[in-house]
Amino acid sequence: MHGIYVLKKEIENIMNRKKPGFSTRAIHAGDKEEETGAVTTPIYQTAPFKFKSAARAASVMAGDEKGYVYSRGLNPTTEVLEEKMADLEGGEAALAQATGMAAISAAVFTEVKAGDHIIADEVIYGSTYDLFIDLAKFGVDVSFIDTSDVSNVKAAFRPGTKLVFFETPANPTMKLTDIKAVSELAHERNATVMVDNTYMTPYFQKPLSLGADVVLHSATKYLNGHGDTLGGIIVGSSDFIKRARHTAKNIGGAISPFNSWLIIRGMKTLPVRMDRHTENAMAVARFLQGHEKVDKVNYPGLTDFPQYDLARKQMSGAGGMIAFMLKYADDVPVFLGTLELCTLAVSLGETGTLIQHPATMTHAVIPREKRIKYGIADELVRLSVGLEDVEDIIADLGQALDRVI
Ligand SMILES: Cc1ncc(COP(=O)(O)O)c(C=O)c1O
Repeated sequence: MHGIYVLKKEIENIMNRKKPGFSTRAIHAGDKEEETGAVTTPIYQTAPFKFKSAARAASVMAGDEKGYVYSRGLNPTTEVLEEKMADLEGGEAALAQATGMAAISAAVFTEVKAGDHIIADEVIYGSTYDLFIDLAKFGVDVSFIDTSDVSNVKAAFRPGTKLVFFETPANPTMKLTDIKAVSELAHERNATVMVDNTYMTPYFQKPLSLGADVVLHSATKYLNGHGDTLGGIIVGSSDFIKRARHTAKNIGGAISPFNSWLIIRGMKTLPVRMDRHTENAMAVARFLQGHEKVDKVNYPGLTDFPQYDLARKQMSGAGGMIAFMLKYADDVPVFLGTLELCTLAVSLGETGTLIQHPATMTHAVIPREKRIKYGIADELVRLSVGLEDVEDIIADLGQALDRVI
């Protein structure tokens, strides 16, 4: 009786749904009716586009008519990727770039000018941190604070604060920031909120629906999912993306049509991959938690994760990333050097399990005393749990941990 009731309810939900489900849109959103009947998106591997007449050229260049001019600004393959991402994140528009850092730089340069102030979380990807340090050269001041405590964000606002920037979960510690609470605070003070959603993807977290203004991605990671291309995406309002497209065109970090195509292809399996990454990561996190050589495990799927309630509130899955601490920093090179299946490499979110040491690799650019203060300890290891059989991942981690004395 109960089962029948649930089934009927589910069918009603499906019938009343205003648009197709996430998996359907991950495959089809952005698709175009191709003249040739091509079922998959063609790769428009061209730099310029031919104009039918000088009059049309003038009209397109003046912005009076839409048209393709030059692939640094707009390309039909990349456009499919942009429309797919805008749809999945629930934004009005999107802009794809050659790398995550090209997307982040273009978005930040679009929003700030000399004299402005940025509030940034102190735990962010190393190159993003480095970019923010470099902004001092252009007269932009950045305060690095712990945005996981909303009162810190409140206290950091100044009259010139233009932007609040954070990752949630943060790379590499997995610390979360309350997107809704920070967005409300920022909007009361006319500041823009940008969230790097690389770790979660729109499958597990939609920052725009929680109040953020702009979402950023390293598409190199889960969106592409196969570790074979770089890419970056900005999603936001049509107005912001129009301005970002202008900035990005002049910076010149356009993505190649082939790389856009690879990401489009990768995204078709995003939901299945994210579910399996999460299932594997949960098993690995439990294994690590019970191991005597491991001091601490940060994984939002574990009930003792310090921000478990916030994770349940703003994420619909815990994802494939784990941060864990060995008992002694000296053991890290032995452990990493003994792994056989897990690959010692930067990057994350691809089919194979990747492992790395943030203190000496992705976050080495942050001065040690600051890094330690931010919680990026020498003992910390970052694990991107892949799609292999989870027993094999656990066996490899186990044999390497056993070598640690
Ligand atoms: C959270 C996060 N944001 C941005 C980036 C930068 O992306 P990309 O390497 O594609 O430039 C990375 C790269 O590791 C990342 O982990």
